[in-house]
Amino acid sequence: MDIRKEYLEFFKSKGHEVVASSALVPDDATLLFTNAGMVPFKSIFTGDVPRPNPPIRTSCQTCIRAGGKHNDLDNVGYTARHHTFFEMLGNFSFGEYFKTEAIAYAWEFVTEILKLPKDRLYVTVHENDDEAYEIWQKHIEKERIYKFGDKDNFWAMGDTGPCGPCSEIFYDQGAEHFNSDEDYMGGDGDRFLEIWNLVFMQFEKSSDGTMTPLPKPSIDTGMGLERVTAIKEGKFSNYDSSLFMPLINEVAKIANLTYEYESGASFRVISDHIRSVVFLLAQGVNFDKEGRGYVLRRILRRALRHGYLLGIKEPFMYRLVDKVVELMGGHYEYLNEKKEYVKELIKLEEERFLATIAAGLDLFNEELAKTKDIFSGEVAFKLYDTYGFPLDLTADMLREKGLSVDATKFDTLMSEQKARAKASWKGSGDAAKESGDFKELLEKFGKNEFIGYDSLSSTSRVLALLNNEFKITNKLNTGESGYIMLDKTPFYAQSGGQCGDSGKINDNKVLDTKKYFELNLSQIQVSSTISVGDEVECKVSPNRLEIRRHHSATHLLHAALRSVLGSHISQAGSSVEADKLRFDFSHPKPVSSDELAQIEKFVNDQIQAGAKAKVEIMDINSAKNSGAIALFGEKYGDEVRVLTLGCSKELCGGTHVENINEIGSFFITKESGVSAGVRRIEAVCSRAALNYANELRNELEEIKASLKGASPIAAIAKLKDEIKSLQNEIKNATSSVELNSKLINGINVVVDEFNGDIKAKIDEIKNKFDSVVIFLASAKDGKVMLAAGSKNCNIKAGELVKAIAPIVGGGGGGRDDFATAGGKDINKISNALEEANKLIKSKL
Ligand code: ALA
Repeated sequence: MDIRKEYLEFFKSKGHEVVASSALVPDDATLLFTNAGMVPFKSIFTGDVPRPNPPIRTSCQTCIRAGGKHNDLDNVGYTARHHTFFEMLGNFSFGEYFKTEAIAYAWEFVTEILKLPKDRLYVTVHENDDEAYEIWQKHIEKERIYKFGDKDNFWAMGDTGPCGPCSEIFYDQGAEHFNSDEDYMGGDGDRFLEIWNLVFMQFEKSSDGTMTPLPKPSIDTGMGLERVTAIKEGKFSNYDSSLFMPLINEVAKIANLTYEYESGASFRVISDHIRSVVFLLAQGVNFDKEGRGYVLRRILRRALRHGYLLGIKEPFMYRLVDKVVELMGGHYEYLNEKKEYVKELIKLEEERFLATIAAGLDLFNEELAKTKDIFSGEVAFKLYDTYGFPLDLTADMLREKGLSVDATKFDTLMSEQKARAKASWKGSGDAAKESGDFKELLEKFGKNEFIGYDSLSSTSRVLALLNNEFKITNKLNTGESGYIMLDKTPFYAQSGGQCGDSGKINDNKVLDTKKYFELNLSQIQVSSTISVGDEVECKVSPNRLEIRRHHSATHLLHAALRSVLGSHISQAGSSVEADKLRFDFSHPKPVSSDELAQIEKFVNDQIQAGAKAKVEIMDINSAKNSGAIALFGEKYGDEVRVLTLGCSKELCGGTHVENINEIGSFFITKESGVSAGVRRIEAVCSRAALNYANELRNELEEIKASLKGASPIAAIAKLKDEIKSLQNEIKNATSSVELNSKLINGINVVVDEFNGDIKAKIDEIKNKFDSVVIFLASAKDGKVMLAAGSKNCNIKAGELVKAIAPIVGGGGGGRDDFATAGGKDINKISNALEEANKLIKSKL
C-alpha cells in the first residue's frame, strides 16, 4: 500500500488542495529546520498572510528534528521510533473546519483506508477539552478515550508560534509482545504507539509566553509515515520496515557484517542519518562551520563514527546515496537530478573527517582512561576544535560508557572563541520590524499592486505612511524619512535577488523599496510634506533598465551553467544590481577557465541570437510541468510568472528585458568559492560591460605606455630575455670573484665568504690548484649555507663541514671531496670561518 498516495488522495477527495512538501530550511528565522507539516503554513495560521483558497490543504512534508525544540538526534538508533529525518502526513484547515471534521476524517482514514482494527485503537484528549472528548465518543467507546495534561496533549511548533491542545490516536501493538511495567496508555513502553496527532490550533505564543488567540481556530494534524508504514507491515520498529531495511542491508553489505536488531544501533543510526544528509544536500544546504550546515556536518560525522564502530574506515556514506534515491526519488524527483552532486559532496566531507578521526579517537581514549564520571570539557573542546568532533558526537561516545561531558566548560571555551572571532558583532535591528504596524495595513488594504513590469512611472495614491519605527502616521514632514505604501506602485521591492528600486515620488527621493510581510513599501526622504490620500507622481530611476538587463543575464548564466557543467547546478543565491550581478550555485569544484570561457560564450551567443522575452502566468504545478526551473525552498504563490528568455525558462517575479539582445554583451569578472560545494560567478553586462571593457583597455594602454608603445606580448618576451641574460651575467660575475688563498705546507687553502653559486665556485677553485682545501660560507634569505671541497689533501670536506656547522646553528656533511651544510645564524659566519681556518691549520 502506498500510504503517502492514499493519504493525499483521501484528503483531496474531502476538498483539500494537495501541496508539495516545502523545503527543509523554512522561511522562518525562529526555526532551524522544518520540524512539522504545519511549518510552511505558520503565517496563515497566525493571520499574517491571507487565507489561501481553498483554506484546507494536505501534504506529505519532509521534516528534520535535529536541533531546537524538537530534537531527536540523541535518541536515533537507540529507540524504535526516533529519526532525524522523517515524513509527516498532514491535513490543515485555516479557520474552515475544526474538531468535529478533523476527528471524523482521521477516524475514517485510520479505520477505512488503513483498515487498522478498531479494537486496537485508543485516543487521548487534553484534560480540559470536553468538546473533543464528546466528539470522540461518536466514534469510539468512552473507555478508550484518555485525558492527559499539557505535557502530552498540548502542541507547540517551537518556543514561539502557533500552538494548541491536541488529541492523539494510539495503536495497541499487543500485550503478547510488550508487557513491561510501562506498557499502559500514558506509560513509556512501546505497546501503545501514538500514530496521529490532531492539533486544535488556537493560540500564538510570543517570546514572553503570552498566548494570543489566533484569528480563527484551525487544524493541524501530523501522522508519521515511518510509524504507520511499520504498523501496516506488522513491524515493531520503524527500522524493520521497508523504508529502512534496504538501507540497513546496504550498510551490512559494505561492512561485511550481518545485521541483528539487538546489536544493530549503528546500522540504524547510519540508515537514518543518510536520509537527512541526502535531503539537506539535495536542497542546497552545505557542510559548514555553523548554523544549519553545521547540523548537517554533525549528522554525517555521527554516522561516520558509527561506521567506524562497524569497522568501516573508508568513505562509505556516499555509497548509500543510490539506495536512498531508489527508495525515495519517485516521490521527491529532485533527488534523481542531484544524486551525483550529493555523492561527491558527501565523499569529500567523509575524507575530511576520516583524516582526523583516528587521532581524535586516540585523544578521546586517552582522556577516557583518566575519566571517572565527567569527561573534561577542555578535551571535548580540543576534539571539536582540532579534530572536528562535534560535541554531541563526543557525548554520544560517552553515553555508551555511561559517562557525560563537562558541557559547561565546553560552552565557556566555545563562547570565548566566538567572542574573539566576533568582537564587533552587531544586532540585526529587526526589533522595529517585528513590532511594526504591517498586520494592520494588510488587514485594511491587503497587498498593494506592483505595476512596474511594463511602466516606470505612475500616478498613484498614498494609502499609508510609516515612520522609521514602522508605525502608522498620517503625514511625513519635510526633512523626515519613512516608508510609503502606494495603492499601485511602479517601484520593484527587493526580492529574488533583484535589488529594490529607487527614484522619485513627486520631488521626494525614493531610497529603496522592500517587501515587508507582502507589502511593497518604498523608503523615502521627504523634501515636501506628504500625507495619506495624496495623489503623487512616481518615477522609477532609469537604473532599473540596467538592473533588468543584469537580471535577464542572470537567467542566461543559469542556463549556461546547466548546459556546460551539468544539471546538478542549482541556484544558491543571487544578487542583481544596475552595474553587476552575482550568482551562487551548487558545484563541487572550481570552474576551470576553459569552462568559464564556454559559459561566457553560451550567454553571448544567446544575446546575439536575440529572442523576445515571454511571460506566462500559470499555476505552480503547470509551471513545473512545463519544465520551468523553480528555486528549491522559494515560496511561490498559487499563481506564478514563468519567464522564457531564449533557452532559459524559470519561475521569476523579477523585471526583465523585452528582448535578450538588449543585454548587449556579457563578461564574467570573477569565479570564486563561497563555502563547501558552492561557487560564485560575478559578471557584468550592458553599460557595465562597456565600462569593464574600457577599464581593461585603459589598463592595457598604461602597460603599453610604460613599455614605450611596443606590443605588450613582444615587449614582455623581450623583458624576460633581458632578465635571463642579466641573471647569467651576475652568475658569471660572482664566479670570477677572487677569493683569499694561502699556501700551508704545500696545500692551497681557501677559506672565505662567498655569495653566489657556491658549488660552481668550489669546482672552479679545484680546477685551479693541484692540491687544495676550500671552505666557503654564504648568507642568503636569512639562512647560512656552508660548503667545503678537498682535493689531494688529508682533510675530508664532509668532516670539516660537520665540525663547523653547529657554530651557525646547523648541521650537515657529505663526501670527502665535497660537502654542504645549512645553518640559521648568519651573525656567526665570521666565527665559522675563523674556526674553519684553525681546524684546517691544525690538520695540515
Ligand atoms: N504539528 C503536529 C505535530 O508535529 C501535528 O505533531
